[in-house]
Amino acid sequence: MNGPRRRTCLELIKPYEPGKPSEEVECEPGLTDVVMLASNENPLGPSPAALEAIKEQLGRIHCYPDGNCSRLRANLAEKYKLDPENVIIGNGTDELLTLIALAYINPGDEAVMVQPTFSEYEFAMRLMGGIPRPVRLAGDEFRYDLDALAAAVNERTRLVFICSPNNPTGTIVQREDLDKFLASLPSGILVVLDLAYAEYVASSSHPDGLEYIKNGRPILVLRTFSKIYGLAGLRIGYAMAPAAVIADLNRIREPYNVNSLAQAAAIAALKDREHLARSRALVEKGRRQLAAGLARMGLKAVPTEANFCFVDLKTDSKRICKALLRRGLIVRSGDVFGYPTYIRVTCGTEEQNNRFLNALEELLAQ
Ligand SMILES: Cc1ncc(COP(=O)(O)O)c(C=O)c1O
Repeated sequence: MNGPRRRTCLELIKPYEPGKPSEEVECEPGLTDVVMLASNENPLGPSPAALEAIKEQLGRIHCYPDGNCSRLRANLAEKYKLDPENVIIGNGTDELLTLIALAYINPGDEAVMVQPTFSEYEFAMRLMGGIPRPVRLAGDEFRYDLDALAAAVNERTRLVFICSPNNPTGTIVQREDLDKFLASLPSGILVVLDLAYAEYVASSSHPDGLEYIKNGRPILVLRTFSKIYGLAGLRIGYAMAPAAVIADLNRIREPYNVNSLAQAAAIAALKDREHLARSRALVEKGRRQLAAGLARMGLKAVPTEANFCFVDLKTDSKRICKALLRRGLIVRSGDVFGYPTYIRVTCGTEEQNNRFLNALEELLAQ
């Protein structure tokens, strides 16, 4: 077709490959009770309070949502002891990542990030003609080396993405190292600290980024309702940053970017401490169960602080993923992250984890 001329950045963008939805897999003959361990969702589902809030809101969906997400922003500001002007809500964190790049990246600008990490940082950069500068995580434990990140910063750097716990490795940055890193950065660079999985972190030395924001440092913290809060299907996440950064993002945000059901559910989910505690406890148990089960097979999972673990199967993981899929188990192959012998598996319920471990053991023995 003699179609429209594409922007050059399109040639550099690979479309995102989402995990197969379990409904689609269940359509295959002989497969029922499919277990989804590929997207780091909450196996306990959403908070019952969030479901109630959605039901209450349903009769009002003929009205536009609150375009400023005022109630939710006020609730978040209270929780984190910030001003509502420090908070913006997005149609998932993904939307906020695009807005950040739209606000701050001109063609040729660079962003430093680790490798492997969450693919949307590269996507957002490419979309604006920016250049991602990946820095490998250190050793077979995929540790953060912030000195190496600092060394990759140059005069074209506009953004630094730090994902902690990092997707797909589950590794975290230490508060002390981040302090030092921020102090060493030249001005004019925004650090994006993505804490999508922070609720699962057990370590007390994990930074929450709030002090930096209160002190007006150029840092933006990302959080989501898709993971521990179990609202991935509604698409809602938020960013916290100095007011001037949030104001920049608000200039380019669409007026009604977050739907009313998502806003109502998020407000209710934030208050449901019991659901949060149960979800966290399940993951703590699941991490131990997966690590022990993998160790029994002679496999060493990367030490993780998230609700997933990354493990080297020492064989073509795509083949294993396909075989697991035929048994109704969906996990993520490491090849999308540049690690074709690894898989990333989400912590499920005890029964789901056992199903996965038993199937993997059988397949690796073949
Ligand atoms: C590190 C990280 N950040 C952000 C997101 C996206 O979250 P959301 O569903 O809010 O767009 C994900 C989703 O997998 C993630 O792994």
